[in-house]
Amino acid sequence: MSARTGVVVAIDGPSGSGKSSASRGVATRLGLRYLDTGAMYRAMTWWMLRHDVPVRDPAAVAERCHEPDIRSGTDPVHPTITVDGMDVAAAIRTPEVTGAVSPVSTVPQVRARLLELQREVIDGGGIVVEGRDIGSVVAPDADVKVYLTAEVAARAARRSAEEGGTDLAVTESSLLARDRIDSTRTASPLTIAEGAVHVDSTPYTLEEVVELIVGLVDAAG
Ligand code: DC
Repeated sequence: MSARTGVVVAIDGPSGSGKSSASRGVATRLGLRYLDTGAMYRAMTWWMLRHDVPVRDPAAVAERCHEPDIRSGTDPVHPTITVDGMDVAAAIRTPEVTGAVSPVSTVPQVRARLLELQREVIDGGGIVVEGRDIGSVVAPDADVKVYLTAEVAARAARRSAEEGGTDLAVTESSLLARDRIDSTRTASPLTIAEGAVHVDSTPYTLEEVVELIVGLVDAAG
């Protein structure tokens, strides 16, 4: 157990791969903290939209990205996110934010600012961190790195259920569009980090994926 107290577990992968449920499940099982870095990019995007910053203008986004005060609560059972003291947990999941988050997260100054905040939270370890560039850029020395994927149809079905039954074809094409931007951007693209274990969750239940990752943490400790 003691080996786990400072452990850092990095879980990367595309949208809808089941990263959040798996990461929270692993953190809860092992008594670790949890950080959803996607929520931080969403919070930044929400702030930009609220302040009428043109989100497709990288210079405009870069100029203002130091203003929002973004804070993440790391309890895996009740993760929280606030911007300037406001609870934005629900607001950051709207289609408006989802549609704007990829261009905002391609801006290098946004990534640099959030990287700093993420490292402050990760400092000291004992945490499961999910995102796109955790094992490659944010925590390259993580004790365990997982690259979690699933077939696109399974990811679209999961995302559509989370969003209350949105049209599957529309959800699938929006996932594919975000995948394309996230994987081809110059700044910290989504990639399989060196040393990461690639897990395709398509044939597994959530419990099985959690079990598998807990096994990797045990093996690393
Ligand atoms: O995990 P998510 O779908 O909530 O992430 C939202 C967006 O944030 C996603 O389109 C890409 C971006 N993101 C990123 O660029 N780097 C991360 N570490 C996490 C998310």
